[in-house]
Amino acid sequence: MEEKTEPAFRYFDLQATMGTTKHMGGLAATLELIEAGQLKEGQDVLEVGCGVGATACLLVKRFGCRVVGVDRSEAMLQQARERAQRERVEEQVRFLQAEAGRLPFEGERFDLMLSESVTTFVVGRDQAVAEYARVVKAGGRVALNEETWLQALAPEVLVEFTRRTWEIEEPIPTAQDWAALLERNGLQALLAQPRRMNWIVEASQVKRYRWADMRRMIWRVLALYARNPAFRRYMKERSKLPKELFTYLGYGLYLGRKR
Ligand SMILES: C[S@@+](CC[C@H](N)C(=O)[O-])C[C@H]1O[C@@H](n2cnc3c(N)ncnc32)[C@H](O)[C@@H]1O
Repeated sequence: MEEKTEPAFRYFDLQATMGTTKHMGGLAATLELIEAGQLKEGQDVLEVGCGVGATACLLVKRFGCRVVGVDRSEAMLQQARERAQRERVEEQVRFLQAEAGRLPFEGERFDLMLSESVTTFVVGRDQAVAEYARVVKAGGRVALNEETWLQALAPEVLVEFTRRTWEIEEPIPTAQDWAALLERNGLQALLAQPRRMNWIVEASQVKRYRWADMRRMIWRVLALYARNPAFRRYMKERSKLPKELFTYLGYGLYLGRKR
């Protein structure tokens, strides 16, 4: 008899189901990145890997920008469109499916391209960053918040954990590596600032969302846990973080200006 295998449960499936996505540093890091990018009211912004659209909606509401958010996942985009409607910004933000390494825009279209915790997951980061540089105007900015090894040569057990848990296929760059990635793809690296992960800041992730989002997330996770054995196995296998993970793994804010 043919054996039935359950499909594996995946990290971004979980986030899309929960209706919340995240990046290290939370809202405070987003605001710093926007400030570093010298964003001005009414400018055109592209967000790559917009997830459920929290930053894209913020860019409209707080900064009066016109925003396009792209993500490879249609499930994320559906959540993002619903968020834009709930937050009454659907006229100023558009969400499209696209790959970071193949952006469906003419060159020199945006004042700022912003992306948080996305390029780390991309296979072919050079191609993606070259695309970011292509679609910003001359002198425009590319602003990234990305996972960063704080020390080169992280132990193999940590590399394997990040690959298995978050599906990060290519080695996580150090801050110097991220700056070099910008530089060799047509951008002048203006900022490369590695940061340690701070649990208090991480707990404030909730500030990006409303209470209704948090309630929905908790119910969805509980329902998933009750109904889906693959999810229970996923959680069990990942419930223990390896010792020293956050001694090595942090994040960084990176800013490049198009040459
Ligand atoms: C960790 S989540 C971060 C989402 C959002 N930026 C945030 O900070 O809440 C990463 C997002 O990047 C998207 N993503 C991953 N690889 C991508 C790719 N190659 N092209 C476009 N989007 C991608 C995922 O679908 C997911 O929505």
